[in-house]
Amino acid sequence: MPHAATAAEADAAAPGGEPVGPLERGLAVLRALAAHPGPRMRPGDLVRATGLARSTVDRIVTTLTHLGYLRIEDDRDVLLAPRLMELGNAYLTCCGLPDALEPLAVELADELDESVSLAVPDGAGVRFISQSTRRRTMALAFQIGDLLPAERCAPGALFASGWSPEQQADWRTRLHDDPRDTGFPAVPPRSAPPAPDEVESAFRQRVADARDAGWAADDQLIEPGLVAVAVPVHAPDGSTVCALSVVSHTSRHSARSLAEHALPRLREYGARMEAALASPAPVATPPAPGGPDTSRAAKAELGPEFLQSLTRGLSVLTALGSAPGGLTLSGAAEATGLARATARRALLSLQQLGYAAPAGEGRRFTLLPTVLELGYARLSRLSFAEIAQPHLARLVEQVHDSASVAVLADDDIMYVARVHTVRIMSVNITVGTRFPAYATSMGRVLLAGLPERAAAERLARASVRPLTPFTRVAAADLVEAVAQARRDGHALVDQELEEGLRSIAVPVHDRTGRVVAAVNVSTHASRGTLDDVRQAVLPALTAAAAAIEEDLAVVTERVRLAIP
Ligand code: PHB
Repeated sequence: MPHAATAAEADAAAPGGEPVGPLERGLAVLRALAAHPGPRMRPGDLVRATGLARSTVDRIVTTLTHLGYLRIEDDRDVLLAPRLMELGNAYLTCCGLPDALEPLAVELADELDESVSLAVPDGAGVRFISQSTRRRTMALAFQIGDLLPAERCAPGALFASGWSPEQQADWRTRLHDDPRDTGFPAVPPRSAPPAPDEVESAFRQRVADARDAGWAADDQLIEPGLVAVAVPVHAPDGSTVCALSVVSHTSRHSARSLAEHALPRLREYGARMEAALASPAPVATPPAPGGPDTSRAAKAELGPEFLQSLTRGLSVLTALGSAPGGLTLSGAAEATGLARATARRALLSLQQLGYAAPAGEGRRFTLLPTVLELGYARLSRLSFAEIAQPHLARLVEQVHDSASVAVLADDDIMYVARVHTVRIMSVNITVGTRFPAYATSMGRVLLAGLPERAAAERLARASVRPLTPFTRVAAADLVEAVAQARRDGHALVDQELEEGLRSIAVPVHDRTGRVVAAVNVSTHASRGTLDDVRQAVLPALTAAAAAIEEDLAVVTERVRLAIP
């Protein structure tokens, strides 16, 4: 169904005269959500933030929700969903720098016992692509994807010495338009911004010094206490591809003493990184041909509310991340199952919008660091509980009983997330509540995830006692209960923790296949037989665990996540 386009929606033209409309508008909605100070926006907020018509916003939200990139809460709040990190992961794989350099950055952080980061130039800003953190007294911890103003960090002074006159002009415009740095959600806004002219002359001086010295410092330019020293890392062609920084706090180092302490090592590791970039990259494995273009089926299902060209554009974007160095047009068509002409339109749109560029020889397209602005840093700040929570809420809606996620803590399980319906236990469970692992369904699947010996040792040392007349306490019984959970892939515990309470649990695996948590549903013992519980709950419970695992895998592809 056609709709009246507002002025802001008029189709822009990509190089070659191709329309970029739906993809551009979809990305505008993602950017608005990523830049918004709070985690959720209503469609009306999105209309105001993007200038798009309400009907357009609705279609984009429907489409992006179908793709798993957004989720809806309380019927109308729109939130970014962890799967969106696929886009940033695609850039990080495509650019190849984290894979080539991060192991060295981690080694350097260990050697110096300070935080080490890698950052790339992104327009007039500096964007982090790797963080090996040892944050101690620092209030701020930057994440992969965070953008800093070039003049307020050490890497910016290194990158700016290579700026073209246009880039310098862009930077100056930005400085004058936004002297308080409100366009940089990761940095505290300046309450009393210095005059842009002063900022400009101070930055020019730092850029000149950095050019002469081959390194740059940040002496509390972002926040009081934070000091950093950075060196450039060059590609074989001499261009600066990224900056290697070490970050500390004035409680340990002044900017000067940090430079004295860290520069020899920074230079050594910078040289090793350059050598790593100069050695022939491992032959990129061609991406497995993608399945058929599924946007056709979704279009049939969702009709006019589903924006096929937005979906196709995003599938081309993620496909570029299937190989370091990007893909050719034919490669992109093959990886997405799209017709060449369709893939070409998407590539040109992405280029026009600043997310992709032709690169190197062989007519390849690569992704640009701006892809990370699409929510990557915000989503990397989600805790494990926040990742699990919406899946628990959905499960509770399906089964009408309380659901929880717990981890193993010594001989106990410890709750990390919970969504309840009516309270059926005598104790009130909150996050942090502990129960003995041996008497709970989550405990049994968590123990089943350990190597058999380790599980047996834990059971042997636990102080086991009958909590109800049904509690299994014999050592052999408990070993068998855990073995059965291992065989079945779930555990069902009937009134062993509390009379009248029945609970069924399945494991949650991380991307390496290790059991890191368990998810359960607890119900009244009066609700039918044990088999009834299995039939009524297990499919939804298993699906919830799988959904948590999927999110976990996307989030932790590049970001370390603490699972309590
Ligand atoms: C950081 O890695 O957090 C960092 C690096 C350089 C700076 C400031 C912060 O100038």
